[in-house]
Amino acid sequence: MKKIYLIGFMGSGKSTVGRYLQNTYAQRFIDTDQYIEQTTQKEIRQIFADEGEEKFRKYEIHALQLLTDYDVIATGGGIVERKENYTTMHNHGIIIYLQTSFPEIMSRLKYDSSRPLWDQQITEREKLYERRHSMYEQIADHIIHTDGLSIEEISQEIMGVMNRNR
Ligand code: S3P
Repeated sequence: MKKIYLIGFMGSGKSTVGRYLQNTYAQRFIDTDQYIEQTTQKEIRQIFADEGEEKFRKYEIHALQLLTDYDVIATGGGIVERKENYTTMHNHGIIIYLQTSFPEIMSRLKYDSSRPLWDQQITEREKLYERRHSMYEQIADHIIHTDGLSIEEISQEIMGVMNRNR
């Protein structure tokens, strides 16, 4: 069966939905950020501070290539920043974009300090959101508009996509 790659902006719910799919539908799930934190023994924020974004992107490319033994893979919001990631995802599975509006993201990440690229002026956050949105849209095989949907509803839609692609 093809894998599902969840893509989308920070705070769009990729990891939460992935965990739900694991707990409710017994899908083998992994999160690239979590994998990187475990293997480097460092938090993402610390990797950015000590080694820089470029090094983080290298860890991310490598993680994505290695993590082929799972049904559902939640990616970091910046997975679209490197072209080789498109190839990895397209070769192994189906790409689902969890599209969440900017106001909704703003409200979810109001108190977040764990994400280095969220730690900037609102205008810069919005620019990043707009730029990334068109990148996610371009590579997605399927888009789910998540505003107003429950985790359960989003997960059901994903299971539907998986079942149609068995
Ligand atoms: C990033 C998103 C984060 C994490 C890192 C960089 C980005 O993941 O990979 O902070 O470039 O958008 P989430 O999308 O899970 O927050």
